[in-house]
Amino acid sequence: MSDRSQLISSGQPFTFDSARDAEFERLVKRYPIRESMIMPALWLAQEQEGWLSTEAIAYVAERVGTYPAKVFELATFYTMYHLKPVGKYHLCVCRTLSCYLREKQEIVDYLAAELGLRPGEVSEDGMFSLEEVECLGHCGTAPVIQVNGEFHEEMNVEKLKTLLAGLD
Ligand code: FES
Repeated sequence: MSDRSQLISSGQPFTFDSARDAEFERLVKRYPIRESMIMPALWLAQEQEGWLSTEAIAYVAERVGTYPAKVFELATFYTMYHLKPVGKYHLCVCRTLSCYLREKQEIVDYLAAELGLRPGEVSEDGMFSLEEVECLGHCGTAPVIQVNGEFHEEMNVEKLKTLLAGLD
């Protein structure tokens, strides 16, 4: 399992671009308690940069008017937030019971054999990253994976080969 207790610096200051800034200002009006904007603001930051750096966490804290430690707690708890750079295609394989029983390991093993990719890693060319996650809520069509958030269900190695071949 990847270490979710550490943040990494990007070495660059972080601010929302104009589109995310406008979206933040639109959303913040919905929240009587500004701190409740932490998670949507983290999502905007991740959408912009692909992951959440130390600088992005500090920026979100400043924008929502709270301590960086509070933002850090949420960012490290929820696995949908990436705490390090991910590949162009981020693969999430569900490891919970239904997917486990329906051979999710064959998918993980195939990715290790074909791409040299293990959970928590990014491929050398930066194209793929892999993460094992908890239940994705589609247990009836296990095993389930997500590619950049898009669901692929009743997955098997043959379907995975076709899926990967279609990615450029
Ligand atoms: Fe895999 Fe629920 S157990 S989607």
